[in-house]
Amino acid sequence: MGKRYDFPVPFGWYAISLSRELAAGEVKPLHYFGKELVLFRTEGGEARLLDAFCPHLGAHLGHGGKVKGEHIACPFHAWEFNGEGVCKHIPYAKNMPPRADGKQTVFSYPVVERNQIIWAWYHPERIAPAFEVETVPEVGHPDWTEYRVYEWKFGAPIQEAAENAADGAHFVYVHSSKDIPRGEITHEAHKRFARYVGKAPDMDEHGNIDRTGTRWRDSLLETANFGPGQTLQRFMGLFDTIQLGLPTPIDSETMHLRFCFIQRKDMNATQQMMAKALTDEISRQVEQDMPIWEHKIFQPNPILCDGDGPIAQFRRWFSQFYASAAPEDSQRIRAVS
Ligand code: FES
Ligand SMILES: [Fe+2]
Repeated sequence: MGKRYDFPVPFGWYAISLSRELAAGEVKPLHYFGKELVLFRTEGGEARLLDAFCPHLGAHLGHGGKVKGEHIACPFHAWEFNGEGVCKHIPYAKNMPPRADGKQTVFSYPVVERNQIIWAWYHPERIAPAFEVETVPEVGHPDWTEYRVYEWKFGAPIQEAAENAADGAHFVYVHSSKDIPRGEITHEAHKRFARYVGKAPDMDEHGNIDRTGTRWRDSLLETANFGPGQTLQRFMGLFDTIQLGLPTPIDSETMHLRFCFIQRKDMNATQQMMAKALTDEISRQVEQDMPIWEHKIFQPNPILCDGDGPIAQFRRWFSQFYASAAPEDSQRIRAVS
């Protein structure tokens, strides 16, 4: 079988680590965007992300590199680079080589730390950030819990996983929802908002979800996408729950997906157990989707029916994040309703 997908990596801000996973002085090798990378936190506390390979003789800075003050030192011959990828010190050289002197010799990705997450801006042509990471005021607020994190790595490009939200019908047939969710959807440049009012399976006082299809509760869900790498969901009703959905391309065909949940702290023990059951249930749904994502192809010109969700609209919105020609689909696909 040939390639199931032909998507480049879209540009945008992507979660590359939780803040709590990177201590001052720590160095980590990463592989995202189809690239070898090194993430480190300086002794002053700044998170920095560079391409991994040393411009001297090619060592991987993430495997044995050490933080020295605000620099990272290469494990091979101890050349030191600052967070901008400029060589600042060669311990055994009398003069800085002219090719390195004051110049960026290792690519440095724009990084921000927001919502207790370290974000990197990826653009295949290295163009500066075109929008910002959205702040979620509840994260770190004393009334809200710390993140509960679920994560997966699997074989699908991030557009395919994101399209799931616009694919209303699958919620009934894959996730046992009562009805096809019908949202009010709006788009504003890199942002996409949806609001769903519906019914979700009820839960008993032990946190067991009703799977008989007989007991339902009202649910209200507001979702927002801020570019391709940040989604925010607010579940209201049973327990106020906020979910940051963080899809990060490992390469053009595989992704790392993190769900980070926070909930209000003013819950008793039973409510806490039920709140945990709710986040488990939301996460379980990804595991229902995964076997489909891992085996499907991308249909560039799908036959859609009037019961399907706003898939064409979604693809048009998402296509803005491709630097080169968007995958063939996005312009050609026709909405049927
Ligand atoms: S390879 Fe990095 S200092 Fe030599
Ligand atoms: Fe799904």
